[in-house]
Amino acid sequence: MNILLVGNGAREHAIIKGLARSGKEKRLYAFMGAKNPGIARIADGYALGDICNPKEVADYAKKNKIGLALIGPEAPLNAGIVDALEEDGVLCAAPAKTAARLETDKTFCRQLLEKHGIPGNPRHDIFSDYKKASDYIDNLDYDFVVKPAGLTGGKGVKIMGEQMATKDEAKAYVREILEAKVGHLPQAVIEERLVGEEFTLQAFVDGKKVVGMPMVQDHKRAYEGDKGPNTGGMGSYSDNGFILPFLTQNDYDEGLSIMEKTVNAVKKETGAPYKGFLYGQFMATKNGVGLIEYNARLGDPEAMNVLSVLDSDLVGICAGMAEGRLDGRIEFSRKATVCKYMVPEGYPEKPKKNVELSVDEKTVEKLGGEVYYASVREEDGRIISSASRSVAVLGKAGSIAEAEKVAEKSMAFIKGDLFHRKDIGTKALIEKRIMHMKELRG
Ligand code: AMP
Ligand code: GLY
Repeated sequence: MNILLVGNGAREHAIIKGLARSGKEKRLYAFMGAKNPGIARIADGYALGDICNPKEVADYAKKNKIGLALIGPEAPLNAGIVDALEEDGVLCAAPAKTAARLETDKTFCRQLLEKHGIPGNPRHDIFSDYKKASDYIDNLDYDFVVKPAGLTGGKGVKIMGEQMATKDEAKAYVREILEAKVGHLPQAVIEERLVGEEFTLQAFVDGKKVVGMPMVQDHKRAYEGDKGPNTGGMGSYSDNGFILPFLTQNDYDEGLSIMEKTVNAVKKETGAPYKGFLYGQFMATKNGVGLIEYNARLGDPEAMNVLSVLDSDLVGICAGMAEGRLDGRIEFSRKATVCKYMVPEGYPEKPKKNVELSVDEKTVEKLGGEVYYASVREEDGRIISSASRSVAVLGKAGSIAEAEKVAEKSMAFIKGDLFHRKDIGTKALIEKRIMHMKELRG
């Protein structure tokens, strides 16, 4: 089988590594926006082009007799790449544009949960009129967040008490959103601020069946101690079982049940099945689990945490998702993982870019670490940075503490004008999460 992967970040590097481990006979092809050295090395063939151009991607698939396709990032899902490929008879382990609205349109997501009586929605409302939004804000007597309805690369949310100090600032942000200065849709979602600990629950979905993976916690903030601006994610960890140390099996089950009900509702609402990876971002609160948002794909960095411990055959799983016949017995090894991102100096606000990086993969591997290339490009054998996250390193071991040590030691062998968060996965940080949940839940 010829398999196509669209995208060129660290998540896609993790996906192609997973596909390459499969014992099935296959040829792997990548369609990338820039040459990711890790993906290019593994792929049997690759091309550079516009990953959001349906015709370009479909032509490449035709030329290479692709039978099965995977899409890494959200932008191509929103651009209708899956729809174009399916029209040509290519099976896709990813949702078509309509089903991907779970991620690409936050109003669709909130309304779907509400209409189908699915738990997890915070109190919220949706606005395309400034006056109505402003009156609504005046009447709120609890902390809230303001989000653009459309895609913003994970950087569009503003929280009262954090990025916004006053109701006037919140209103000004709503105005920006409605003037379409943020995100691709001129609608604002205003919702209750959920308080607790966040976790990511990713699943394999075949239209009906939803098979969960180990929980992961990402770190959105740029600086240590969860300070600074929001980023695409600075690093993430998972434990040696499915549950994070500060959460419970009950949190996991609640999250998975919300995802199952949502997949059902997408089919009922749109007629189209949701298939492919589904990413649920949840907040474990005092009173159960709330849904922050869905992503219609694997997370970045969370893909590295789960795929690096996946024991089952990824090619078989992807074919199962695409064809609506996913085998529910999917195995993960009982290892903890810690993933840390090296990002450009000044990221995310004023990132230094086009800097040559040195990545000593051999030494990282000797230390037990894994390297995943992200927003870098290979030019004449040199690795050049861009404005976004550069290289991720993953440590895998019997415990989070040991995995953290592997990841942290490895970071010394990724050089350039870069920085990373040393605190991700450390004992001190996890203790803080445990204490936080204890305080909340007693
Ligand atoms: P998103 O782009 O929806 O992933 O949001 C980015 C970040 O904003 C999340 O990871 C949360 O930390 C925060 N956030 C979003 N919605 C809420 C909410 N309703 N309550 C509390 N935090 C939120
Ligand atoms: N790590 C968050 C995301 O992939 O959107």
